[in-house]
Parts: sequence; structure tokens; C-alpha cells
Amino acid sequence: MKQVVLPILKAAMQVVMWVLKRVDYYFGQTVTSLNPLESLIDPYPGFNAVRDKGPILRSYMNNGWIVTGYKEVTEFLRDQRVSNDFSKNAFMVRIVRLAAGDVDVLNIDNPTMLGQDPPDHTRLRKLVAKGFLHKYVQSLAPTIEQLVDDLLDEIPLDSGRFDVMQSLARPLPAIVIAEMMGVPASERHLFERWSEQLLGGTDLGNPALIRKGGEANMEMRAYLAELAERKRGAPGQDLISQLIMAEEDGDKLSADELYSNCILLLVAGHETTTRLIGNCLYLLLHHPEQMEVARQSEENLVNALEESLRYEPPVQFMARIVKESMTVNDCKLKQGQMLMLSIAAANRDPAANENPDVFDIKRKKITHVSFGYGIHLCLGMSLARLEAKIVFNRLFNRFPELVYLGEKPNWGTNPMFRGVETLLVGTSISGVQEHLSVERHVASR
Ligand code: HEM
Repeated sequence: MKQVVLPILKAAMQVVMWVLKRVDYYFGQTVTSLNPLESLIDPYPGFNAVRDKGPILRSYMNNGWIVTGYKEVTEFLRDQRVSNDFSKNAFMVRIVRLAAGDVDVLNIDNPTMLGQDPPDHTRLRKLVAKGFLHKYVQSLAPTIEQLVDDLLDEIPLDSGRFDVMQSLARPLPAIVIAEMMGVPASERHLFERWSEQLLGGTDLGNPALIRKGGEANMEMRAYLAELAERKRGAPGQDLISQLIMAEEDGDKLSADELYSNCILLLVAGHETTTRLIGNCLYLLLHHPEQMEVARQSEENLVNALEESLRYEPPVQFMARIVKESMTVNDCKLKQGQMLMLSIAAANRDPAANENPDVFDIKRKKITHVSFGYGIHLCLGMSLARLEAKIVFNRLFNRFPELVYLGEKPNWGTNPMFRGVETLLVGTSISGVQEHLSVERHVASR
């Protein structure tokens, strides 16, 4: 049954998206190109063109609106009349239910703080935030340094080149989260697989992936239930032990809330941090003079990471649902419509940053919403910044010269997340010249 329903559903979704995109292109104002590749390689001219037409525009494809102005994006993120609870969107729930069948899907069947509004969100966030206190996150630095060193040690360097994404940026954030949760090293690989499946499950155009995401959710819940049982018997310094003990006004996380929010941490913290590392290194490799500046001091490196977050944000959009009809900037927003809040466009709004299309790590003030804004502001941002800083420090120390060896970058196919899929680097300029001359020699034969 599953083998028949899922492909039919996928084909139907693709036809609907194809039609809606054309409706938007010819009758709306938010689609600047019908070529999906073009907008994936460089989406920014399109975002700028859309913002020039207006900060809030009707989008038929998203059954709602696209918001591209910095001021408007931040205002919506503070507005109690918009919701992040998609389990109340009957259309979306129906698609997910059809695709997932009997498996439970995160944020639809198992709510997390990210998919909830106050007061439920406020309560959960207060409890989970106890596992993300600044002092605790900073205390993880030596562990993260060791994990980065271990990954770097595994790279076979005889060829003088390696793929930073595969060797470091992709595995590291999942391993860090597993380590924080007190997962034995032999079981960490499970986190990498679950993370990939859970993230794939957010692609509403692909029912098979939605089901796989649900399967990962169920497997990880079962694993966490068993892990939590062990921690209850012998609590440690790890995040799970802290969350089991976390208490606020006599309130605690239920077992289900604990599992759902731990799974959220993996989904929210893995791919995003991977892409921050990849995007920042890609940008520095393409701006060698700024790479030099970033290598000079901790302060410059921190600025480079913030500018990279602004210029190439790992999360490109945040979605919200209109809870009650309202008029904003003469636009009549109806209850149930979707708001696509574009982080990428807001960060490049000239009203927020001067010369926004220039990558400049020496900017005096870097304004961005790459970690969100308002009540759902990223809970893991200090962890992400710490991980990225350690990665660059370790890379800079180990490799005084790093050179980009890839040709055209592959920016992937997911418009919600942006980042290079592979990042091939050479570890010395002379090695690269050698490599190029060998390639030229082979090519000329
Ligand atoms: C560069 C890396 C990261 C980026 C760009 C990023 C981005 C974001 C964004 C944009 C949001 C807001 C989503 C919305 O309002 O709809 C968010 C929320 C969140 N992030 Fe991150 N994130 C990163 C890393 C992390 C890490 C490492 C963790 C934890 C391990 C984490 C945990 C969370 C959580 C739990 C929320 C939900 C907070 C709430 O609902 O109150 N993130 N993140």
C-alpha cells in the first residue's frame, strides 16, 4: 500500500507546486525566476528584486505572503497574532498524516518548543534553557577541541587535500550533541543518521522522506527513553541528566517532552552548524585577504563568523501562520495564511546594513536575524558560535595555508537551508600547484 500511495502523493505534490509557482510567476510578484537551479545558486538578486517591490508581498505558492524587509520580519517575529504551531494547520497535518501513515512525526504528533506558542512555549523554553546556561556551554570547550582534533587526525593527508564538509563540518555538530547528551562514542553514528532523516522529513514535497523522518523520530524516542532510564539511576553532568532534574516553579519536563525537545536539539543544531562552518570557510577561501585578517585575532575570527551568518545564513526562511486576520502595510492578511519570513532577504536589506551585498568581516556593526528573533530566538547560538570558533582555530593552527580546490560550488537543493555540500581544500599552495600541474598533465595526454 505504502509503495503505491507515496509515489502518487509525491507526483501530486510536485504538480501542485509546479502550477502554483507558475501562478505566482505570472500573476504574483514574488517569483523572479522559474529556473530552480538559478535561484539555488544565487538567490540574493531574486530576494533583492522582491524586496524592491515591497517588504510584504502576496505569494500564491505559499498560500500566504513573503516578507523580505528587516523591520517587517522582526515585527512579525514579535507579533502574538502569528503562530509557529503548524499542528493547527489542517492542510499540512493532512499531507503529513497521509505520508507518514502509522508513524509519529515530530512537531505534528510530538510537539516541541519550536512548534508551540505561549504559554506552552514559555514553559518548555524555561525548562530546556536550564541545559543551555552560558557557563555550561563554555565548559564544553575542551571536549569540543578534543572532538575536532580527533576528526582532523583521521584525515589522510598524503594527497594534500580533503573535503572539509565530509571530514569535519558534517559529523562534528551531531557528535557534539550526542556527547552533550552523554551518548557512548560507539552509538554516536546513530545521531548522524537520525539527524539526516529528521531533516529530510521537513520536505513537504516528498512523502517518502516525511515517513523516514517519522521513523527516525520513533527510533530516537525509544533510544532516549532507554538512555534517560540509565541517567535517572546514575545522573551525571550531561544535558539529559540536567534536563531530567530541571525544575521551574515546581514544574518539570514530562518524559515525552524530554524526548521531543532532545530530538529538536539535534534537528535544530546539526545541519545549521554544519552550514555555518562550511559557508564561512567557503567565503574566506574566496576572499583570501579577509582570510588573512580572520587568522590574525580571535576578535576578527568572531566578526568573520557573524558576517558569514549575515551574508550566507544557514536557515533562509522562518515560517509562521496568521492566527487572526489583520492589515499590515495595507496588506490584508487572512487567518490561516502562511508567512514566509526571509532571513536571507532581511539580512541584505539596505535599511539594516550598509552595502549589504558586500562580504566584509571588518564591518563595524553586523545586523542579522540568522538566529531568529523574539521568543523563538535560537537557544543553541552560543554553542554554535563556540563550535565554529574552535573549528576555525584548529584549522588555522594546523594548516597555515588553505586553498579552495573545488570548482563550481554545489549549494544543494533545499531552499530552506543554504550551504555548500562539499568543500575541497588543499593544505598548501605548493601542493596545490603540484596537484594542478599533474591534472593539467593528465588532461593534456
Ligand atoms: C549556526 C547554527 C544555527 C543557526 C543558524 C540556527 C538558527 C535558528 C533559528 C533561525 C531559529 C528560530 C526559528 C524560528 O523562529 O522559527 C532557531 C531556533 C532554535 N535553535 Fe538554532 N540555530 C543554530 C544552531 C543551534 C544549535 C547548535 C542548537 C542546539 C543544539 C539550536 C537549537 C535551537 C532551538 C532549541 C531553537 C528553538 C527555540 C525556541 O523555540 O524557543 N540551534 N535556531
